[in-house]
Amino acid sequence: MTEQLKIPTHVAIIMDGNGRWATSRGLSRSMGHKAGSENLEKLARYIIKQGVKVLSVYAFSTENFKRSDEEVDYLMNLFTTRFKKDAKKYNKENIKVVFSGRDYPLRADVIKTMQEITELTKNNTGGTINICLNYGGQAEITDVVLKIVKDTKSGLIEEKNINEKLINKYLYQDLPPIDFLIRTSGEKRVSNFMLWQLSYAELYFPEIHFPDFNNKAFDDALLVFNRRERRFGGVK
Ligand code: IPE
Ligand code: IPE
Ligand code: MG
Repeated sequence: MTEQLKIPTHVAIIMDGNGRWATSRGLSRSMGHKAGSENLEKLARYIIKQGVKVLSVYAFSTENFKRSDEEVDYLMNLFTTRFKKDAKKYNKENIKVVFSGRDYPLRADVIKTMQEITELTKNNTGGTINICLNYGGQAEITDVVLKIVKDTKSGLIEEKNINEKLINKYLYQDLPPIDFLIRTSGEKRVSNFMLWQLSYAELYFPEIHFPDFNNKAFDDALLVFNRRERRFGGVK
């Protein structure tokens, strides 16, 4: 069915609504994160199978450290256990996994897990999952500026060569621009996600909480994307 459809090269998902999914069922927020992580593994493989080259997912923002210790700990434990298991499945399907975000103040075991997954999947060529963990769009741009200043001072780059293309190379990952952003659960905001990369992305805000955003929901999202008319500042 999707053969005739335009498939976006880079899809990004703000995986929101785990907490609401859980509380509406009388469960703890943590159970929502568990359900969300189970959904991600299936959905990510499906999305890559549809021909999407890069899938970026927002797993934890720099601001999410404001949450209770209990919730943050639960999420960090999920990242070390669940992600490691999922990475083996991604690896079998030739999918590369990369991470975007700051290390500090992540736990050492979380950083180690990210390194192991990156290493395990680094030579895979069948699509990329970019997991944004302890990620903030403003933090990323700040880190880019700091690196560019450093490299300019040390003579590695010249000021006259600083342009959009170079800035892209200094981002956490050098990826194509985002074509399609999906934020589940209905909130209409980007919450500090990939501010540079979203410049001409089509935005879509389905009301479905992330644990329920299944393959069929992604098919529907693709239809929405296909009805959009992209102009990139030009005229039709
Ligand atoms: C998104 O779901 C997952 C993370 C932020 C880690 P939320 O936990 O934000 O769920 P809601 O928005 O409270 O329902
Ligand atoms: C964005 O969701 C972060 C992730 C999905 C990881 P939030 O739930 O943290 O965003 P706000 O607080 O509603 O803007
Ligand atoms: Mg939320």
